[in-house]
Amino acid sequence: MKIAITGGAGFIGSNFTSFICKKYKQSQILNIDRMTYAANPLTLQILNKLPNHRFIKIDICDSKGIEELLSGYEIIVHFAAETHVDRSLENTRDFLTTNISGTLSILETIKKIKSIKRYIHISTDEVYGSIQSGSFTEESKINPTNPYSVSKASADFLVLSYFRYFNIPAIIIRSTNNFGPFQHPEKFIPLAITNALEGKKIPLYGDGKQTREWIFVYDTCRAIEMLINNGEPGQIYNVSAHQEKTNIETLKKILKMLEKDENLILNVPDRPSHDVRYSIATEKIEKLGFKSIYSFENGLKETIKWYKENQQWWKHIKNSTGFRQYYKARYPSL
Ligand SMILES: NC(=O)c1ccc[n+]([C@@H]2O[C@H](COP(=O)([O-])OP(=O)(O)OC[C@H]3O[C@@H](n4cnc5c(N)ncnc54)[C@H](O)[C@@H]3O)[C@@H](O)[C@H]2O)c1
Repeated sequence: MKIAITGGAGFIGSNFTSFICKKYKQSQILNIDRMTYAANPLTLQILNKLPNHRFIKIDICDSKGIEELLSGYEIIVHFAAETHVDRSLENTRDFLTTNISGTLSILETIKKIKSIKRYIHISTDEVYGSIQSGSFTEESKINPTNPYSVSKASADFLVLSYFRYFNIPAIIIRSTNNFGPFQHPEKFIPLAITNALEGKKIPLYGDGKQTREWIFVYDTCRAIEMLINNGEPGQIYNVSAHQEKTNIETLKKILKMLEKDENLILNVPDRPSHDVRYSIATEKIEKLGFKSIYSFENGLKETIKWYKENQQWWKHIKNSTGFRQYYKARYPSL
């Protein structure tokens, strides 16, 4: 089997690439990524040790290059995206370009090359917006609230239209918040772990009462694999492990596991109109047999262990000029 993965040097993409290379040893796995600030070259050093992994640096918006590369592939799993909500409030155009035009160039390729049997489009629960109580199903109204989720929702509509008009074998996955190894330290959980390991203050937006549902990245990889094999084209599947936590709860749990004092928490002004709660119903993928296997605690234990053992990986990012500038501008009091 020939499988192409976009964004395979990023967080979920690299976990999935490693998962699939190890499980499907006879398959050829092509990893294409532009290596933006979000991709760590040290991740590629690890993936390149896998004999069936091949990496090509390319922008997914380069439609001609993408078409040439993907010709002959049977499965595409599309992760590549600009993903950080905070950055989407400043660099909105980059988000619209990669997340919408980039997706368009993948869709056009699939339409032309005909060899693709499954296209897995990785979307997010953020397209539904915030919900006070209950959970969104795949039928719920789309109500994105920030440029990141607007760009993801737009891409979802584009994918569905290509399914309707050109019958491309597309499946959309709307996953809740992931955590685990190889996540960029600008994101909430790795920032908390790495700052705590460095004995630095950990910024917490507002009162920390925002609620998120978490899933350990390994479970997301299993869900994607299940949908490649058993998902129905044209369908959307929510994916979550239903581990709902307020941000302050998550932070306190991390500090407890690391045996660090809660006085490391520093409340910083909340971002405007920060979504209060995300929650999705997952009966549809459960009917296919999906069930997460990692509890929040076990996932956190593995994640913390990984960040403790791979300090070179995250220090490479945190010591970079780009990250320092970003961090200083975002949290001037730190
Ligand atoms: N992380 C989460 O909690 C989460 C939850 C739900 C959905 N998602 C979705 O999953 C996907 C992966 O998220 P992630 O957290 O792993 O992201 P990430 O930011 O860690 O990685 C994104 C990757 O895409 C690459 N990339 C960006 N622009 C590109 C371009 N123009 N051409 C080629 N490559 C490009 C980057 O270099 C990076 O390697 C995204 O589509 C995201 O919307 C993520």
